[in-house]
Amino acid sequence: MGTAAQVQEKNVNNSMSEEVLAGLSKSQKTLPSKYFYDKRGSALFEDICELDEYYLTRTELEIMNGNIDAIAAKLGENIQLIELGSGSSVKTRLLLDHLNSINSYIPVDISDDFLAEVAENLQGEYPVLDIIPVAADYTQPFELPRTKPGVRKIAYYPGSTIGNFTKENAAEFLALIADLAGEDGGLLIGFDLLKEKETLVDAYDDSKGVTAEFNKNILLRLNRELNANFDLDLFEHRAVFNEEKSRMEMHLESKADQFVNISDAQIHFEKGETIHTENSHKYSLESFKELTESHFRTVETWTDPESMFAIQFLESK
Ligand code: AVI
Repeated sequence: MGTAAQVQEKNVNNSMSEEVLAGLSKSQKTLPSKYFYDKRGSALFEDICELDEYYLTRTELEIMNGNIDAIAAKLGENIQLIELGSGSSVKTRLLLDHLNSINSYIPVDISDDFLAEVAENLQGEYPVLDIIPVAADYTQPFELPRTKPGVRKIAYYPGSTIGNFTKENAAEFLALIADLAGEDGGLLIGFDLLKEKETLVDAYDDSKGVTAEFNKNILLRLNRELNANFDLDLFEHRAVFNEEKSRMEMHLESKADQFVNISDAQIHFEKGETIHTENSHKYSLESFKELTESHFRTVETWTDPESMFAIQFLESK
C-alpha cells in the first residue's frame, strides 16, 4: 500500500496510459494535446508565443490594448470575471485594471499548484480584489462560489484555445459556459481567423524549430511517465493545413518502420505514418457565429487592421 498521494499518482498514470494506448491503437494514431503541457511543454509554449511567425498572442494583446475601454464598457458593472485556464497574463491584468466595477475574479485551472501561485501573485498586486481560485477541469460542469444577486458572471477565454477543440467539443463546451454564466452573463473570447495557408503553416512550423520541440516534447513525456522508448530522432514534426476542416494540424511522422514500447504494450509504426497530436481550428466571423449562436448572442467583435485575430463579447441567450 502506498500513501494517498502515491495511489492518486498511480491512478493518474493509469488513465494517462489508457488514453495514450487507445489513441495509438487507432488507424490514424492520435495523442491528446493536453499532454503537451508538462513543465517543459508549458515553457516551450511561452517561447512559441514570442516567435515572429506565431502572430496570435501579440495580435490578441494588440486588440485588447487598442480597445480596452470599449471592452470594459460592454462587459458592464458589478462583474464576476471567471477566467478559464490559468490567468497570470498581461491580458488578465489589463482587464482587471480597466473593468468598471469588479465584484470578484475567479481563475479556474486544473492544476492546483499553478492556481495557488497565480492567486497569490495577483492578490499581492490587487490587495482589495476578491480573488477566489477554483481548481477544476472547466470542460466538465463545475461549481462557482456563490455571489449576491445582481452580480454579472463573465467568462473569459482568451488565446484561441477554443480552436483546440473539435467543432463538436467546442459546441458542447460553449453550452456549458452559457449555463455557467447564466441569464445576464456573457463570454469574452479570443479566436484565430482563417487566413492564407502560408501564414498558418509558418505559425505552426517556425524557422527556429520551437514548435517542433514543443510537438516532440509529448514523446519525451511518454518516455518519462509511461516508461516508453520513443527515439525522438526517428520522428519528424509536421504542420499541415486541413482545408476541409479549416484547421491547422500537428503530426509527428515516423521516419522509419519501427516498434515502440509504452507501459506493457508495443506499438508498430510504418515509415511515413503519423501521430496526430493537435488541431487548431481557424474561424471566419460567420463560422464562429454558427458555432456560438445556439447559446450566445454576438454583442461586439474587435479585430486588428489585417483581420488576423478576433475578440468577441457574447451574451448568454
Ligand atoms: C494553446 N493553443 C491555442 C495553441 C494553438 O495555437 O493552437 C497551441 C499551439 N500549438 C502549436 N503552437 C501553439
